[in-house]
Amino acid sequence: MSDIVLRPITRSEDAEDALDLAQRAADYVTLEVGHAPNMDFIDGFFTAVPPGLSQDALMTFAVMEEQAMVGMICIAEGYEFPTDWWIGLMLLDPAFRRRGIGRAVLRLVKRKARRAKMTMLKLSVLEANPRAMHFWVREGFLPHRYAAATPESDGHDRWVLKYHL
Ligand SMILES: CC(C)(COP(=O)(O)OP(=O)(O)OC[C@H]1O[C@@H](n2cnc3c(N)ncnc32)[C@H](O)[C@@H]1OP(=O)(O)O)[C@@H](O)C(=O)NCCC(=O)NCCS
Repeated sequence: MSDIVLRPITRSEDAEDALDLAQRAADYVTLEVGHAPNMDFIDGFFTAVPPGLSQDALMTFAVMEEQAMVGMICIAEGYEFPTDWWIGLMLLDPAFRRRGIGRAVLRLVKRKARRAKMTMLKLSVLEANPRAMHFWVREGFLPHRYAAATPESDGHDRWVLKYHL
C-alpha cells in the first residue's frame, strides 16, 4: 500500500469526483439509503451536520492513494460533546478495501483529532453492516449506545460506537 493522504474537499470543487467515488461504492450507499448514489446523496455528504451544529463544524476529505481518489470521509466536530469528532461517513472504493487503507485512514484521523484536542471519536454503524462493525471493533471502538429505528427515521437500527483518544 502506498502512502494514504486525506485531502480536504469541497462541494463546489469536488462534487463530481465524490459522486464518481460513491457510484463505485454503490454497494454501501444502496444499503444505507436504499438506492444508487445521486447528487442528493453527495449534497448530504458535504452539508449534513448532526443536530445543533453549523456547517463550520464539518470537515470533508478525499482518501488519496497517490493520484487516485480511493475513498471519502466526513467528520463533524462537537457531536455529541464539544471534544467529540463524529465520523459521519467513511467510504472506500470496493477495489481498495481489505488492504489496510481503512486502518491507515483511521490512524490519520486519530492524529488530526488529537492535534485538535479532541478526546473521543464516535460514529454510528448500521446493524445491517456487520463487516463494518467487525472493522470498528477490531480498531478498538466500543459500543456507546443502541439507536433503534423510529417511525421518523430511515428504518435502520444502529450501534453508536466510541473510541477514547
Ligand atoms: C469499512 C471500511 C472503511 C474498512 O476499510 P478497509 O480498508 O476495507 O479496512 P482494512 O483493510 O483496514 O480492514 C479490513 C476489514 O474491514 C472489514 N470490512 C468492513 N466492510 C467491508 C467491506 N464492505 N468489504 C470488505 N471488508 C470490509 C472486513 O471485516 C475486514 O476485516 P477482515 O480482513 O478481518 O475480514 C471499508 O471496508 C468500506 O469502505 N466499507 C464499505 C463502507 C462502510 O461500511 N463504511 C463504514 C460505515 S460505518
